[in-house]
Amino acid sequence: MVTTAVNPYLDGNFAPVHKEIITDTLKVIGELPPDLSGMFVRNGPNPQWTPIGQYHWFDGDGMLHGVRISNGKATYRNRYVRTRGWKIEHEAGKAIWTGLLEPPQRDNPYGSYKNTANTALVWHAGQFLALWEGGAPHAIKLPELETIGEYTYNGKLISPFTAHPKVDPVTGEMMFFGYSFSPPYLQYGVVSASGELLHTVPIDLPIPVMMHDFAITENYTIFMDLPLTFSTERMQRGEPLMMFERDRPSRFGILPRHGDNSNIRWFESPACYIFHTLNAYEEKDEVVLIACRMNSTTVLASEDSQGDPQGNIPHLHRWHFNLSSGTVREEMLDDIPSEFPRVNENLLGRKTQYGYAGRVAKSSMPLFDGIAKYDLHNGTSQTHEFGQGRYGGEAVFVPRVSSSQGETKGEDNGWLITFVYDHASESSELVVVDAQDVTSQPVARVLIPQRVPYGFHGAWVFEEY
Ligand SMILES: [Fe+2]
Repeated sequence: MVTTAVNPYLDGNFAPVHKEIITDTLKVIGELPPDLSGMFVRNGPNPQWTPIGQYHWFDGDGMLHGVRISNGKATYRNRYVRTRGWKIEHEAGKAIWTGLLEPPQRDNPYGSYKNTANTALVWHAGQFLALWEGGAPHAIKLPELETIGEYTYNGKLISPFTAHPKVDPVTGEMMFFGYSFSPPYLQYGVVSASGELLHTVPIDLPIPVMMHDFAITENYTIFMDLPLTFSTERMQRGEPLMMFERDRPSRFGILPRHGDNSNIRWFESPACYIFHTLNAYEEKDEVVLIACRMNSTTVLASEDSQGDPQGNIPHLHRWHFNLSSGTVREEMLDDIPSEFPRVNENLLGRKTQYGYAGRVAKSSMPLFDGIAKYDLHNGTSQTHEFGQGRYGGEAVFVPRVSSSQGETKGEDNGWLITFVYDHASESSELVVVDAQDVTSQPVARVLIPQRVPYGFHGAWVFEEY
């Protein structure tokens, strides 16, 4: 018998889909809330061609899956983000770029890497952007999900652009950063509420690190200089370019929103890795950060997990950075492993009572078997379980907008929305859960006529585009 080892990220519901479809009204089990009006879009990796070299889940071309909801009805469409790299490979009829697990392609005539636009999405100042942390955003037309092109803020974008920019719900400003292997290792920028890139400033880091997310409060921006390091010297010795160095500290830099490197204050705590923050806020003398913390990470670096098999499992933690005393206090908030945390973004940067995250399943693959709702005031949590053999993605909180007043009442008054895949029926659905009643069945399950592969981050856009 001949067996062929299949990369698990190209198999099952991690495997790509190749059809781009547009549907008529979809079948709904339950009832879509009549006051839920807008579009849920999720980004994720979906390699256009059979990958060359070793494939990492982060390598695939970005594909958007959108469900537009209005008047209790829903339609679906999916589209690749038509990046420069996607077009070149489309024309060639094959993959040209290798991925993160292979050495950089210095001899690739089209450039050594491909901006896949595969990670996340943000709506800001009338633009819907598909994001990838190594390069520029791509503007996307709604509701068609067509790619308009790279978006560089009229040429003012001089840095890479994180997949996790933060929009202040009160001022409308958007904060972003970009990291790089070569100096400046970190740059920080602010975009005005009207969409003008106001300024970009370099932030000093001792060595280059992989920095996936950050956080904001009303007045501050918080950077996470964590010891997942890049070293070309290491690579020249035949060792990994990227490595988690557990003997280096975690450093958290707190900067006034419109400040520069001269205003930043760094706080140190033991080595850890954080992919995603839930939120941050100010309280008395403290800046407080809530995020999913791991003791270490092997997601991008195969080294240094020996002796700590649990090191990769994320748990919600809270850090208190005291601006008066300069001390740090860190505590674990829940023993449920969770990732892809979200809040009601109308309260981003402010203290919230609730947070939401995917509950990490007991699996060797990154699967979520439910949605954890954290009550951060009372230190409790509840879980919405997807059910046997059903796994979902990041749950996005969508606030209920009162049609009469146009405002939301109650922090958790709204819905949690995510794609769920059912392994038995090999089918996908969009699940809408009442955020005030998470342990109950979904209020609506929208059946999608095509499999939606597991992916990364989603966004909700209200019907205003
Ligand atoms: Fe992310």
